[in-house]
Amino acid sequence: MKFFIDTADLAEIKTAYSWGCVAGVTTNPSLYAKTGGKLADFEAHMVKIAEACPDVPVSAESTATTTEDMVAGGLRLAALAPNIVVKLPICAESLAATKELKKHGVNVNMTLIFTVPQALMACSAGARYVSPFVGRFDDIAEDGIEQLANIVTAVKNYYGPEHTEIIAASLRTPNHVTQAALLGADIATVPFAAMEKCLHHPLTDRGLAAFEADWKKVTSAQ
Ligand code: G3P
Repeated sequence: MKFFIDTADLAEIKTAYSWGCVAGVTTNPSLYAKTGGKLADFEAHMVKIAEACPDVPVSAESTATTTEDMVAGGLRLAALAPNIVVKLPICAESLAATKELKKHGVNVNMTLIFTVPQALMACSAGARYVSPFVGRFDDIAEDGIEQLANIVTAVKNYYGPEHTEIIAASLRTPNHVTQAALLGADIATVPFAAMEKCLHHPLTDRGLAAFEADWKKVTSAQ
């Protein structure tokens, strides 16, 4: 499973990318709003992200509401940098836009996926990525991991990763990441704080401290 970083914060993206294990970036309007970014700076910000990690896909989300505007806006976003993927929330208009954008060679990440039929419709329209959400099911006292498992099974019955990759999204914890990997998601997109948590384990930290203490004994015995 590949790791994507789920943030629009440039500093977080640069730090996570420097770790060498980040294979993509996903953003959305809420994550951009969280950076304090203004509408006028949105495209420039996406370019900065795309240039900060030029060898991995960067999802930039369109907020258009008609197919025509999604296609026009998507083409504009895709022209900003070669690694930009156009992110569209699933609806009738975005399915039609996905089909059209694919004809132009533009990759679409279809987001806000909560059900198997939504995921299969996105694949069928030609989405390069589908993003089923996990945490938001948990927020309403449903089992997000079980829903993700159903979507992974159904999509993999009909499509391979060269057609559509599944991005497990709305992940909040290392356990979400573990479960996404065990059930076969192609990608986990992980917020920076959860990514940092994934790096650590108390036994790793304790082991590291012991190695350092023992090595001091070795070097001080010279
Ligand atoms: O990639 C989608 C993700 O950012 C949504 O996460 O935590 O807002 O449900 P969350």
